[in-house]
Amino acid sequence: MKLLISSTLASSLLLLFLSAELFGVSNADEYHHISQHNARSKNQRNRAVTEDAAYWKSTAQSLLQAELNKKPIEAQAKNIIFFLGDGMSIATVTAARIYKGQKAGKTGEEEQLTFDKFPYSALSRTYCTDAQVADSACTATAYLCGVKTDIDTLGLDNNVVYKDCSTQNVAANRVSSIMAWAQDANKGTGIVTTTKVTHATPAGTYAHVANRDWEDDYAQSFDGVDTATCDDIAEQLVFNNPGKNFKVILGGGRSYFMPNTTTDIETGAKGRRRDGKNLIDEWKSAHPTGKYMTSRDDLLNLDVAGTDAILGLFSPAHMEYFLESSTANNPTLENMTRTAIQMLQKETNGYVLLVEGGRIDQAHHDGRAKLALEEALQFDLAVAAALEMTSTDDTLIIVTADHSHTFTINGYPDRGNNLLGLSGDMGEDDKPYTTLSYANGPGYNTTFANGERIDLTNVDTTADSYLQPSAVPIGSETHGGDDVAIFAIGPQAHLFQGVYEQHYIAHVMAYAACVGDGLKFCDAKSSSSRHGAVPLIMLVQFVLVWFAGRLLFRS
Ligand SMILES: *[C@@H]1O[C@H](CO)[C@@H](O)[C@H](O)[C@H]1NC(C)=O
Ligand SMILES: *[C@@H]1O[C@H](CO)[C@@H](O)[C@H](O)[C@H]1NC(C)=O
Ligand SMILES: *[C@@H]1O[C@H](CO)[C@@H](O)[C@H](O)[C@H]1NC(C)=O
Ligand SMILES: [Zn+2]
Repeated sequence: MKLLISSTLASSLLLLFLSAELFGVSNADEYHHISQHNARSKNQRNRAVTEDAAYWKSTAQSLLQAELNKKPIEAQAKNIIFFLGDGMSIATVTAARIYKGQKAGKTGEEEQLTFDKFPYSALSRTYCTDAQVADSACTATAYLCGVKTDIDTLGLDNNVVYKDCSTQNVAANRVSSIMAWAQDANKGTGIVTTTKVTHATPAGTYAHVANRDWEDDYAQSFDGVDTATCDDIAEQLVFNNPGKNFKVILGGGRSYFMPNTTTDIETGAKGRRRDGKNLIDEWKSAHPTGKYMTSRDDLLNLDVAGTDAILGLFSPAHMEYFLESSTANNPTLENMTRTAIQMLQKETNGYVLLVEGGRIDQAHHDGRAKLALEEALQFDLAVAAALEMTSTDDTLIIVTADHSHTFTINGYPDRGNNLLGLSGDMGEDDKPYTTLSYANGPGYNTTFANGERIDLTNVDTTADSYLQPSAVPIGSETHGGDDVAIFAIGPQAHLFQGVYEQHYIAHVMAYAACVGDGLKFCDAKSSSSRHGAVPLIMLVQFVLVWFAGRLLFRS
């Protein structure tokens, strides 16, 4: 009996092994497979009639089969594309997927974002060394440099003293980023963002500052900093390693690179810099075969093959919200991501690219959920473009957020209820409330008047300009301290299956790409193939003996 069980078990294992080898579903197939289920729920409104037991059983069985067929990609990541949705909390991901579905005429809840379909996901704990609820600077230092640090500081460990430039200039306090490690391995590097390229997230790849606000010398002057000895963020991007070597820099923030004696090409406003430095000209002279760009047409008409490096500054400050972006001057995040990848695909040793959907966060700060969700959908399109342009065999794509927000999806709205609408229920004050709201923020004023909750019955809560309700009056809604998600596909993506400290992410990227000074897949591979040989031979022997046994002793 025991023999029978073990031989049955062994034969099922073998069959499973063989079928996985022969009929193994690649990630691309898996992808397709899952999206077809969504097609079924198309056009179902409120009461989803085809969602009976047979439907749920078959969807779950397909998911289970896909999971059983899933195999980690044990290869080196030649390329890494790291997508950072700033402030893209888990509630934001859920809401974006419902919103995406509803925009396509579906109920929405069943919709999937591109990265929802990635094979591996995990949670990231975002607190910083001195903060329960983090900001984008200390978190960027964690996921890009692999070290947690103090809030509002970048590229330094927590020996930094906030706003004390002398601690910024101590070499021992400085931590380097995945971009520096990639450059040491002769990989191409680049950054793309919808915010200023000097803002905290992109600056995390190249800057070391005791205050994230020191984006130029003018900003530094408010803190009484000696701008001659204390490099601001824009200067560090143009003059220092690793920023000066970036092949791609795309985003906003033009005025931080321009002296106050020059005028902006779009707005005619003066530059911000007080030190007389024209950092755009400095970049141009350091990159004679590079191209400086200021418009969407510049970007789309770029001679990729004939251009060695690009600096695209499409706005004097942050780029406009997608929903409010009126002029042809503004490429979308997808447009920028595509060009960035085309540029970096010329690199023979591969590349590391950061793409930030930076204004998801800012729309939340403004208490404007619809804008935040539109930004999240643009972010998703950029992820889809990257997936389409690369191979999961050699490119690790990670999608995550730096921190959460106070944003919630609440009440008991019906299936398919307009996500931006009223939840369908009343508060104890007999007034309706919205499905989306914030714990704090500027929406306080649209929530309360004269000490009472405002009646929203005839208010268009779906308007672009609507501020979702908040309980605490704060001009800028705050971040949240809950975990954020990590989604991954490609080589070593399977190292994201758990609840991790955020700084782990940088170490996984370095391991996968075989860069930096920690553990590397390439080292692990050469040692495991030496030591792994014996167990493999034993396994082959076992299978042969077992086969022979089955043939000889069949009863
Ligand atoms: C430009 O900056 C210089 C140096 O701080 C200052 O003297 C000058 O008034 C500024 N000009 C404008 C137009 O802001
Ligand atoms: C620019 O991006 C948008 C999506 O945001 C897309 O619809 C459009 O086709 C892109 N344009 C080009 C030329 O790639
Ligand atoms: C809310 O309304 C008050 C009173 O009108 C005003 O002083 C305050 O600035 C408003 N807050 C926001 C965030 O709009
Ligand atoms: Zn923020």
